[in-house]
Amino acid sequence: MKIEGQTFLVSGGASGLGKACVEEICRASGNVAILDLNEVNDKEMTKELSVSTKFFLCNVLSTESIASAVKDAVDWSKQTGKPLRGVVSAAGVAKPAIILDRHGKAFSLDAFDFVVNLNLRGTIDLIRQTLEHLSQVDPIGPDSERGVIVMVASSAAFDGQKGQVSYSASKGAVTAMTLPMARDLARYGIRVVTVAPSLFDSKMTSNMPDKVRKSLEGAMEFPKRAGHPTEFAQLVRQV
Ligand SMILES: NC(=O)c1ccc[n+]([C@@H]2O[C@H](COP(=O)([O-])OP(=O)(O)OC[C@H]3O[C@@H](n4cnc5c(N)ncnc54)[C@H](O)[C@@H]3O)[C@@H](O)[C@H]2O)c1
Repeated sequence: MKIEGQTFLVSGGASGLGKACVEEICRASGNVAILDLNEVNDKEMTKELSVSTKFFLCNVLSTESIASAVKDAVDWSKQTGKPLRGVVSAAGVAKPAIILDRHGKAFSLDAFDFVVNLNLRGTIDLIRQTLEHLSQVDPIGPDSERGVIVMVASSAAFDGQKGQVSYSASKGAVTAMTLPMARDLARYGIRVVTVAPSLFDSKMTSNMPDKVRKSLEGAMEFPKRAGHPTEFAQLVRQV
């Protein structure tokens, strides 16, 4: 997707993989609307970043919050003359829980609902609301393309570890939505791509016990290490 002179929405853009995407899009001369619960720490923002990004407070668990953030972000894209071209839906949580604990007690449905609502419902709600605007922009390029939707699943969609029943359910569903969504949106010139990363360094994985990290890294082929968020962002840039 052409990035230069275009605007992209990035949920979860204040940290980790989402933040790396924000930086990568800015490096390619795009504008980014960061939709997150938390603002990016000012001190971490380079001058380049601060002129091409704007923060919009957004809780993807709330339809109203998404509606207001998407509307404001789209208004900003119109003011800057850089049309909306896509969304990267990276907001997510892991919240591991074993389905049955050592006392025979099953995990709470509230915890399951929280993870699924945030990772799955939050993803589709942001995308469906963005699409009402994305489908209205002028198509560009030789393929008359309007834009691209990038969803973030996880290797847990296919190979979930212990304690990842809720997380795997949410990411498996994100993966499953990809093809039907791509087929629904082809007629509008909008592509749909889902990336399923394995272990990456971020706030989400920073508290992982050493033993778990070592065992995950040990199962990797090469290199035996967590990915850097910039490596994830370079892949997203190519879509
Ligand atoms: N780091 C990994 O190893 C890894 C692996 C596979 C998939 N992922 C996925 O990548 C995405 C990004 O994860 P990360 O590792 O960068 O985590 P992270 O914790 O560094 O960043 C997540 C961001 O999402 C935001 N967020 C959380 N709840 C939100 C809400 N309700 N509304 C809006 N924003 C909210 C947080 O404020 C944070 O900025 C997630 O969907 C995660 O499941 C990460």
